[in-house]
Amino acid sequence: MDLHDYEDVAENYDLYLNVMYKNEDNHSGFKEFYLDFAKEYGKDGVIDIACGTGAVLLYLAEHGIMADGTDLSEAMCRVADEKARKNGFNLNIFPANMTEFRSGRKYSCAIIARSGFMHLLTPELQRAALLNIRENLVDGGMLTFNTFDPHPYFQTQQMNTKESDYSFRLEYTNKQGKREKIYNAISYDPYTQIMSGNWKFETLDENGTVIEERVRPLKMRQTYRQEMTYLLELTGFEIVNVFGGYHKESGKGSAKNVIWCVKKR
Ligand SMILES: C[S@@+](CC[C@H](N)C(=O)[O-])C[C@H]1O[C@@H](n2cnc3c(N)ncnc32)[C@H](O)[C@@H]1O
Repeated sequence: MDLHDYEDVAENYDLYLNVMYKNEDNHSGFKEFYLDFAKEYGKDGVIDIACGTGAVLLYLAEHGIMADGTDLSEAMCRVADEKARKNGFNLNIFPANMTEFRSGRKYSCAIIARSGFMHLLTPELQRAALLNIRENLVDGGMLTFNTFDPHPYFQTQQMNTKESDYSFRLEYTNKQGKREKIYNAISYDPYTQIMSGNWKFETLDENGTVIEERVRPLKMRQTYRQEMTYLLELTGFEIVNVFGGYHKESGKGSAKNVIWCVKKR
C-alpha cells in the first residue's frame, strides 16, 4: 500500500503536483521527453506503465499517440480514464502491477514516467518488473524509466530524520475547494536503500484552523547505477542512453534524475 492507493490522493494528485513542481521541478521537460521517445520508438504501440492520473498518457494523446496505460492503483486509473474521456479520448487504461501485467498485445515502446520505477522496493521486484516488461515488448522494443542518483549528503540527513520530523512542503486547494497544507518527513535506511516518507495533509477551514489531518506513507527505493547496469544486463536489456535529466543532459557524473533508455535484447 502506498500513498497512491488512497482515493483522496488520486483525486487531488494533479492539483498538488502542479504547485509542487512550480517551486521545485526535477521533472521539467518530462512531457516533451516522453513525446519524443514515443515518436521515435512507438510505431508498434506505446504503453505508459505506472501512468498515475495520466499526465503523460493525455499529453501523448493530444499529440496523436493513443497509448495504453496501466497503474497499480485503481483510483489513479479511474482519474486518468475520466480525464481521457473528458478530452474525447477512448484509451485502454487498466489497473495492474508492473511486475505481472499483460494486455493481450506487445509494444515497441514502454514508458515508466516520473519515478514510477522507484516504487519497486526490492531488487527482486525490480527484476520481476523488468522481466515482465520485456515480455510485453516486441524484439528490439524500447523502455525508458528514471532513478535518482543516491546522494550521501541527503542520505545522511534522512538517516537522522524521525517519522514525525515534518517539513512544510506546500499549500494548495483540494478538489472540494478547501485549503490544504502538505508536510513530509523522509527517512532513509541504508541497508534496504528505502526512503520512507510520511506525507501529512492538513485540511483548513476559512480561518486557517486545521479541521482534518491525514498521514499517508510513501516508500521509494534508491538504486545505484552499477546495480541498475547489472540488473538490466541480467534481465535482457541493452543500455542505449543514460541522460542526466529530461532535457537530455549528459548522464556522466552525478545527476539528480537519471533517465535510462534501454532496448530489449
Ligand atoms: C510518482 S507516480 C507517477 C505517475 C505518472 N507516471 C506521472 O508521471 O504523473 C508513481 C505511480 O506509480 C504507481 N505504482 C507504484 N507501484 C506500482 C507497481 N508495482 N505497478 C504499477 N504501478 C505502480 C503508483 O500507483 C503511482 O501512480
